[in-house]
Amino acid sequence: MRERKRDERTPVLQMVFHGAIASAIGIAVGLAIDWFPEGASTQAGPIDTLWDVLIVVSVPIFVTVSIIVLFSVRNFGMRPGEENLDGPPIHGNTRLEIVWTAIPAIILVALCTYAYVVLVDIEEAQANEMRINVVGQQFTWTFEYPQAGGKPVRSQQLYLPQDRPVRFYVKSLDVIHDFWVPAFRMKVDAVPGIETRYRVTPDRRGTYPVVCAELCGLGHAFMRVNAHVVSPQAFKSWLTKQKQPAQGASAEGEAPDGKALFAEGNGDATACGACHTLADAGTNASIGPDLDEALPGQDAAAIKASIVKPNAELSDGFQAGVMPPNYGDTLSPEELDALVEYLGEVAGK
Ligand code: CUA
Repeated sequence: MRERKRDERTPVLQMVFHGAIASAIGIAVGLAIDWFPEGASTQAGPIDTLWDVLIVVSVPIFVTVSIIVLFSVRNFGMRPGEENLDGPPIHGNTRLEIVWTAIPAIILVALCTYAYVVLVDIEEAQANEMRINVVGQQFTWTFEYPQAGGKPVRSQQLYLPQDRPVRFYVKSLDVIHDFWVPAFRMKVDAVPGIETRYRVTPDRRGTYPVVCAELCGLGHAFMRVNAHVVSPQAFKSWLTKQKQPAQGASAEGEAPDGKALFAEGNGDATACGACHTLADAGTNASIGPDLDEALPGQDAAAIKASIVKPNAELSDGFQAGVMPPNYGDTLSPEELDALVEYLGEVAGK
């Protein structure tokens, strides 16, 4: 056997030296990267700090493992002529095994405890919480603001007053979606048949994307709306304004308003305007065909068929299954007639 004549100490010192440099670089890069959009809730701070601590702890662990593997390959690899040799027999080393079990266990328990403390902190109930119901369906979100002694206000956009704690009650009408506002850092699945919840206190004004974070069908990528964090005064006037005009669902006895139905939906049926552009109704979404182009020349029967059986005939460039196929159920016959009549008028203009 060829004598392996190597100084045992030098590799260890080299490993410590290289490991320290690599860890310092890794931590610096990890902390310099903007992993998340700027936070806009009181929950964001503790979560971002937790993330940074995880980077500081996990980079040296990754580096330690990698360095030991790389140095072992370089220093203890097989040399030519050693193909048929066995390495020295290995016996147990109780002290070493205790050490390499205890250290990871301590790190793990410490990190879990810290994460748990953060979780309890950010999920703590707040005084004066506002309830908002979030309903996911293919492929949009509807937000419901319950009103004491009245009908809830429904909106396709999320409006939130700054610094007011909010608790979201999340549901789905069809498949699993996931309600996520990256700037708030919190997310939860919207699961058919159950209600999921989370709390958030928006603390910075601005407009932030609401994202569906669960693959839910062809329109998944378009299942995005905006969360507007506004001043409490602006929120109040927005809410008041939402209460006044005829929502799509009309008051008792009145004929349904086709234009309002198009722009706002009726609570069960998603607003057409959430997906379609139509200048007359003031909508500009692009998930479905642009009706300023598709509508002219269509007669009432064709319009009705497109609403009730959207997959029977498709516009160029649009796939089946994107438009909900259940408008025949979610709109009342009167509402459907009002919508067809409205669109017929626009088509004839
Ligand atoms: Cu809803 Cu993805």
